[in-house]
Amino acid sequence: MRILAIETSCDETAAAVLDCKNDNIKILSNIVASQIPIHQKTGGVVPEVASREHIKTILPVIQKALKEATGENNLKDQLKQSDCIAVTQGPGLMGSLLVGVQTAKTLGWLANKPIVPVNHIAGHIYANWIHESQLFSKLSHKATVNCQLSKPIAFPAIVLVVSGGHTQLVLMKNHRCFKILGETVDDAAGEAFDKVAKLLGLGYPGGPIIESLAKKGDSRAFKFPRPMLKQDNFDFSFSGLKTAVLYASQQLTIDSEQLTKKDSKNICASFQQAAIDVLVEKSLKAIQKYKPKSFLISGGVAANSTLVEALSSELRARNVSFFYPEKKLCTDNAAMIGAAAYFKILNSPVYARNSHFDAEPNLQL
Ligand code: KG4
Ligand code: ZN
Repeated sequence: MRILAIETSCDETAAAVLDCKNDNIKILSNIVASQIPIHQKTGGVVPEVASREHIKTILPVIQKALKEATGENNLKDQLKQSDCIAVTQGPGLMGSLLVGVQTAKTLGWLANKPIVPVNHIAGHIYANWIHESQLFSKLSHKATVNCQLSKPIAFPAIVLVVSGGHTQLVLMKNHRCFKILGETVDDAAGEAFDKVAKLLGLGYPGGPIIESLAKKGDSRAFKFPRPMLKQDNFDFSFSGLKTAVLYASQQLTIDSEQLTKKDSKNICASFQQAAIDVLVEKSLKAIQKYKPKSFLISGGVAANSTLVEALSSELRARNVSFFYPEKKLCTDNAAMIGAAAYFKILNSPVYARNSHFDAEPNLQL
């Protein structure tokens, strides 16, 4: 089955074409037009600006993905080769989602192809099912894991979803059953990385910048809190941690007017360690209770090698198979949306194809 997938939930305009057979998903093309340079000027995503950019780039991005996958130049000929069109329905920014959903509906109408609405979080989760052989050699995480795409993901599985908008622990009993065990009560993990980077004047998006500075800093230099670690649930909170970073940096600037480079590196390392400690501890608590066969991580923050390495060694010690997506599939892309659509079709074929749906900014998993 060939799937054209479209993703526009936030600030990446993305399209991909996948060839799917049995449990094997092959990426024929995967185009992401990032708006990061635009949103860097404002230190974060401005929703109206994001939707306007999607409008400008959506058709060129889709046509590039289709041309790469099919070799055809004409849109109708390109679309003929796809069996369906998958699109992110939500959650996300309303204006951004609308651009993707309306484009998918229009192309579906033009080429008479069914549309598969996809939950963005499910997309992040299904990035773990993309077993593309050409990706093996490109794995960029240093962690040695006991299982990386070499065997099927066995259920039940627990997934740690860590993105810019979500932080959730999800129990997956099978492809139809997702149960949220816990989630953030305030900021998402990626949001905390972004806000800390902003308050330290480091730029956007914060995650990769903080990760790289943290490598040169001392993670024990500042004693930041590990929020909600003692609570007997699977929820998270990152807003207090962010405030603790704010107070520490304010104190340092009172003492010496400006943060030194060493201070910034030490704050980044200490903040990142506090966030990772909470994510790992809560994950282990869920593993202890639910005894899953597999543990998966997904979302933009899954691109953080220090987090992946920390989880990897803990899971190896507990003999739980650990899966994580290739780095470029952690952050928003359309290949993951196509993968989620494929498993939706396999597991609920009639229900999956549906043109009567709307963009849903608060869609739940
Ligand atoms: O999944 P994603 O692309 O978008 C959402 O669905 O939200 O995640 C983006 C988030 C941003 O907050 C970004 O700072 C974070 O992922 N991120 C990272 C890293 N790379 C991206 N956070 C920590 N370490 C990284 N290396
Ligand atoms: Zn995302």
